[in-house]
Amino acid sequence: MTVEGKTVLVTGGTGGIGKETARQLAALGARVILVGRNGDRAGAAVADLRRSSGNDDVTAITADMSRLRDVRRLAQEVSGRAGGMDVLINNAGATRPHRQLTEDGVETTFAVNVVAPFCLTHWLMPALTASGRARVINITGGVPRGRIDLDNLRGEKSYVGLSVYNQTKLAQMAMSYRFAQELTATPVTLNVAYPGHAHTSMNKDLAIGTYPPLARPIVPLLRLATPIVLGRRALLRATRSSVYLASSPEVRETNGTYFNSAARPTPWPDAALDRTTRDTVWELCARERDRPATA
Ligand SMILES: NC(=O)c1ccc[n+]([C@@H]2O[C@H](COP(=O)([O-])OP(=O)(O)OC[C@H]3O[C@@H](n4cnc5c(N)ncnc54)[C@H](OP(=O)(O)O)[C@@H]3O)[C@@H](O)[C@H]2O)c1
Repeated sequence: MTVEGKTVLVTGGTGGIGKETARQLAALGARVILVGRNGDRAGAAVADLRRSSGNDDVTAITADMSRLRDVRRLAQEVSGRAGGMDVLINNAGATRPHRQLTEDGVETTFAVNVVAPFCLTHWLMPALTASGRARVINITGGVPRGRIDLDNLRGEKSYVGLSVYNQTKLAQMAMSYRFAQELTATPVTLNVAYPGHAHTSMNKDLAIGTYPPLARPIVPLLRLATPIVLGRRALLRATRSSVYLASSPEVRETNGTYFNSAARPTPWPDAALDRTTRDTVWELCARERDRPATA
């Protein structure tokens, strides 16, 4: 498939890597729906993308992916629109300096990075299958290696923001691996993309307490260096794997594959390959999905 005329939803599409991804897909002729929390920022992103891509078929829906009622409303709103959903890019991500629970009582990083993509994909499944051949792309991050401490998956025992972020991204990969297995009999594929690093609000605004204690002395230096090292080219590079997975005919049937920042298939981390981890993460997500809806 090419994405021309296809409907693409990008969560966290009003800023950072998601917005740049959305810009490129709009330039390829996709019908793009952006998701962000703030109506003004969403409106500005729509205007910017329409102008810079030459494609007027860009709209936005506001939703906070840390709130299940917003994720549910987003799925309902999109499903109610004519036509199916061809590409879903679960891009919105979160880091927090301190342990913080959402209104649903879920640790916020886990809620945005793991529970939201799980629930949104589930709740959009009728729209995804209706489009014939749909693609789901989950964006990972952090250091995607190693295992998960299942006893501290949601920062219950100790909380260092970036470590918990890493663990949640590994958990997202474990959830994605199992999700792709569950989709084998459907016309929907699910793959994971690692974007690589870019200078965005996620790392610009990171409070010093989010870093592990040993790294804190070099944070001022990092803050000076990253805008220089990670310029516009890094932002463009960070969209490579997701734009490829969303648009290339080469990956039409590819399912359950992890792509690195150069858009090449790459081995899954141990956390995703470990069945106990996968099933534990899946069950935690399913519990949130199956909660009764709140107003
Ligand atoms: N930046 C990097 O170096 C890097 C490296 C590896 C992986 N990643 C991953 O790549 C993805 C995008 O990263 P990024 O750096 O572009 O992040 P970012 O700068 O934080 O992304 C900003 C976008 O996400 C939206 N957003 C943030 N929280 C949201 C929430 N709770 N609900 C809905 N929308 C939300 C923002 O809109 P509003 O503010 O208006 O809500 C905006 O559209 C993330 O999954 C991240 O983990 C990033």
